[in-house]
Amino acid sequence: MTGERTSATRLIIEANRPRAIVHRRCRLEVVRGPDKGTSVDVDRSRIRLGTGAANDLVLTDRSVSRLHAEIELGEEGYRLRDLGSTNGTRIGQLRVQDVFMEPGTLLTLGHTEVRFDAAGDGAVTELDPEASFGRLVGDSVPMRTLYATLRRVAPTDVTVLLVGETGTGKDLAAEAILDASPRRDGPFVVVDCSSLMPTLVEAELFGHEQGAFTGATEARTGAFERADGGTIFLDEIGELPLDMQPKLLRVLESRQVRRIGAARPLSIDVRVIAATNRSLAAEVNRGTFRADLYYRLAVVELQMPPLRVRKGDIPLLVARMLEDAGHDPSELSQETIDELGRYAWPGNVRELRNFLERAVALADAAQSPEAMSAARSAAAPPVDPGEPFRTAKERATGAFERAYVEAILTRSGGNVARAARDAQMDRMYLHKLAQRYGLLRPRRAKR
Ligand SMILES: Nc1ncnc2c1ncn2[C@@H]1O[C@H](COP(=O)(O)OP(=O)(O)O)[C@@H](O)[C@H]1O
Ligand SMILES: [Mg+2]
Repeated sequence: MTGERTSATRLIIEANRPRAIVHRRCRLEVVRGPDKGTSVDVDRSRIRLGTGAANDLVLTDRSVSRLHAEIELGEEGYRLRDLGSTNGTRIGQLRVQDVFMEPGTLLTLGHTEVRFDAAGDGAVTELDPEASFGRLVGDSVPMRTLYATLRRVAPTDVTVLLVGETGTGKDLAAEAILDASPRRDGPFVVVDCSSLMPTLVEAELFGHEQGAFTGATEARTGAFERADGGTIFLDEIGELPLDMQPKLLRVLESRQVRRIGAARPLSIDVRVIAATNRSLAAEVNRGTFRADLYYRLAVVELQMPPLRVRKGDIPLLVARMLEDAGHDPSELSQETIDELGRYAWPGNVRELRNFLERAVALADAAQSPEAMSAARSAAAPPVDPGEPFRTAKERATGAFERAYVEAILTRSGGNVARAARDAQMDRMYLHKLAQRYGLLRPRRAKR
């Protein structure tokens, strides 16, 4: 037996550069179970199996989960993943979670057996010609595949779900979509669903009237209303409490919001971008995320590739980051770059950036230790040794963040994009901070 894997994709190379990916055409046939005889030919890079109507192979077997398993076609082969199904996915006697399989494999899902086969060439995906999109950087095939879709969907009003591990650039992708859309000058409201107090989520998203509940001393516009005419970015949507999900679904479907305590709903015109680092399919199977909301959000679902599958982008990323920090990229030796390529980067580009910032700071310190120490003592805030470290630190950072954000927003006349650019900080992050400290100018309510 050879250890070689069958490639599920092939690249079309032109002038030494990949131009397009060709995916193999796949066939799934139910050979045992209630759906015996059902078969599908699929022509896509990701194939899903389960009882939900949106799967490529739809099964009726009650022992199969709604989003049971998926097969991803990549350079490395056919990758089968169980999506957190109740009864698991098996190949022979083995229960499998995430494996590469060969065409001809028999899969068992609940009481159903499915034969997986591959045929000739199927769908062709043209890669984006550029090595960056917005502030996303990378010339690798997965990134150029991503840019191609981003470029296509950005100018539309289509709802986009960005899925990826932490640090893979979901915020940057949302920002890039915004900047390439006709709504770029409209309001842009970021809601971090992971940082909302469960009891305040509804008020935060939809607003409330004066006296709507105890403590509602004045009326307040919600995030959706503030985003009217523009874009709302629902970050970490996987953290949205289950009881809020039907309410959000209703808003997305009707494009109307009703403030808590209001008699009538308001029509809103918003483009929705959502992001999560969770597998929402697994959350759906576990019952912690509603299937209907998932499908409503994942009109276009984009997978952000982790850094470990595109290590060839590291030199480009490093060069860009060093330049941004005012350093000469050629300062970094080939040896160091090679070394960076050997690490797995579980924190992805964020971790790479933090690493470089530290490395650069240390190099600066090595040049002038006195300057560093002087700067440190000048900046140190007063300390109360009686206060626990964690709260003391939170208070100090909070005070600093608020003052800093206020200062740069004042200087930019309230223009967040300009302030972020001048301060060389992430615009999304600046948005979040400005919202947290109540420093954003309220948008004029339209109705
Ligand atoms: N493809 C990329 N090119 C350049 N910088 C990136 C890329 N992906 C992430 N970053 C940087 O890494 C950090 C984390 O990115 P972010 O978009 O906040 O990730 P996520 O929202 O997925 O956790 C940011 O500093 C961002 O600028
Ligand atoms: Mg993020």
